Amino acid sequence: ERDGKGCFSERLPPKFPGLFQRPGPESRATLKTLNTLGELSMSETDVFPVPQAIADSALINNERYLEMYKASVTDPEGFWAEHGKRIDWIKPFTQVRDVSFDPHDVRIRWFHDGTLNVAANCLDRHLATRGDQTAILWEGDDPAESQAVTYRDLYERVGRLSNALRALGVKKGDRVCLYLPMIPEAAVAMLACARIGAIHSIVFGGFSPDSLANRIQDSECTVVITADEGLRGGRRVPLKTNVDKALADCPSVKSVVVVKRTGGDVPMTAGRDLWYEEITAVQPVDAPAEEMEAEDPLFILYTSGSTGKPKGVLHTSGGYLVYASMTHEYVFDYRDGEIYWCTADVGWVTGHSYIVYGPLANGATTLMFEGIPSYPDASRFWRVVEKHKVNIFYTAPTAIRALMREGEEPVKACDRSSLRILGSVGEPINPEAWIWYHRVVGDSRCPIVDTWWQTETGGILITPLPGATALKPGSATRPFFGVQPVLVDGEGNELSGATEGNLCVSDSWPGQARTVYGDHERFVQTYFTTYKGYYFTGDGCRRDADGYYWITGRVDDVINVSGHRMGTAEIESALVAHAKVAEAAVVGYPHDIKGQGIYAYVTLVAGEKESEELRKELVAWVRKEIGPIASPDVIQWAPGLPKTRSGKIMRRILRKIAENEVGALGDTSTLADPSVVEDLIANRKA
Ligand code: WT7
Repeated sequence: ERDGKGCFSERLPPKFPGLFQRPGPESRATLKTLNTLGELSMSETDVFPVPQAIADSALINNERYLEMYKASVTDPEGFWAEHGKRIDWIKPFTQVRDVSFDPHDVRIRWFHDGTLNVAANCLDRHLATRGDQTAILWEGDDPAESQAVTYRDLYERVGRLSNALRALGVKKGDRVCLYLPMIPEAAVAMLACARIGAIHSIVFGGFSPDSLANRIQDSECTVVITADEGLRGGRRVPLKTNVDKALADCPSVKSVVVVKRTGGDVPMTAGRDLWYEEITAVQPVDAPAEEMEAEDPLFILYTSGSTGKPKGVLHTSGGYLVYASMTHEYVFDYRDGEIYWCTADVGWVTGHSYIVYGPLANGATTLMFEGIPSYPDASRFWRVVEKHKVNIFYTAPTAIRALMREGEEPVKACDRSSLRILGSVGEPINPEAWIWYHRVVGDSRCPIVDTWWQTETGGILITPLPGATALKPGSATRPFFGVQPVLVDGEGNELSGATEGNLCVSDSWPGQARTVYGDHERFVQTYFTTYKGYYFTGDGCRRDADGYYWITGRVDDVINVSGHRMGTAEIESALVAHAKVAEAAVVGYPHDIKGQGIYAYVTLVAGEKESEELRKELVAWVRKEIGPIASPDVIQWAPGLPKTRSGKIMRRILRKIAENEVGALGDTSTLADPSVVEDLIANRKA
């Protein structure tokens, strides 16, 4: 049994006590008059004004932001009717939106009588003007390997794969699972699915065969596209072998398409497995693009919640593409010809919206990186920036914190003068890391856009705009156009002014997820019933006197480890599936690099002995069950878990112990057996 569903009052952060300290003296130099944001009070924190050069040339300055934001919320129909035209429609829409957050009738439809093809928007419409421009600039794990794929190349590669998939019998509405490394074929496969109307479901290459199998089964995929092996930090990832293990239990899968990446020796099952190179080589490059309704599904992406199995979040075509492309252009102030690099993996929503769909719809050059920041050494990111003259760089706080530890030398060794805009995503960025990113990486020249959003939101919801927003380190600042954030208390009452509460959104935006695949009831339950009339994000948030938003972290049983979202319930299920484990409770705790680490309390079955060996075995077990990203950082043996008299685990107490806040346990009067807590405190692991 889980306690509470995001009741803010009970678990007020600080979740990051060590991280949200005030920046050191080196950073406090910028409190100046703000010519672009005269109304900011800036009383208590450092503010970084918009650099004049950026304000003068940016797509959106503050005046324009305020004007457009106002229009977007006072007349959403008119606003989105206009901006909906930024993409190419086959049949133009006449309806703009049909939206209800009423839990008895959740309806989210945008541009719903229009038709389009997402791949044609990302490829065909650019051929005449930018066929020879690089669409995907690929940088391999090995620094000696890179590839420039032009819009014409990409169009042709997508056409061939579209035809090959059709030849395999894939039709509009069928589900195709992608389990691929960060190679151009990942984008090709996404776009080929979009071209023929198939729904892709990408599973991050770091997930285990079991996790892969669960996701394939849930959406009944008929085809899996994978590679022989992946390559990360010089190490091989056995993708095809994992697929073989997963498919032992996936009767829906008829074909497996295998890209040759490393040339490693992998078994091929006759009648099921096919080499990508062979089936695409024989196909023509032109493939008719399926005419899709705006509300036809584009992709499913599994994400963790506080309970149960991961949910297949479903995004549709028209609204998603309008929102992904518009946010990509405005949030990064993207200009034609610029080199844009988002370091995420296509296995996460960031890769979908801001490596592939947003940038390609905008005709951008998007850099795709196969490797990791620490290989061959800690300069890798900045060497890539120098080599490809990257203008816009978008990464996660965990990467910044890890690189910060290596000092300034690896950064300074590389020329970063091409950089114009920096971005952050995935978890709250602590001011110390923000300031280092700004000063060291950006030479104090480049605005940082701290973008808050979620798998379910499809695109960025709260963010600075480089030319409009004065920055406060650690704040995602203000809402994007059309986004109406609301803070509510535990009872759902809207809070006004400077305050802190549960973050909700009161009206729809075009990129919003439409449902949970195969389980609309779960979609309604998860997002629309906790606080009636609102979309509930699961995050806690503070709003300051300037109307800036500061995300404080999840208020539900979801943790964020190195920007990866994980349900504590999933890790608990994996642990109790082990024969020697009787019971387990998992919570997050502050971790210097990862943001949050995974702290597991484990009760063994009677007669089993606690040992270092068993601890290692359990860590390996969770890696095998879910994947390496779910490895517990700490396992504490728990002879008992703190429970109420009705048997409910009191996670609030477990969180406090893991956070080492044992002086502030709160109300413990409902504990069935208080001695359990004393034992856990006494044996707390560092
Ligand atoms: C959760 C969503 C957004 C795409 C990648 C993660 C946290 C995300 C920020 C940010 C503070 C952030 C939230 C959110 N989060 N960005 N800029 N500041 N927190 O997508 O896996 O769906 O996770 O990540 O807690 O709810 P996701």
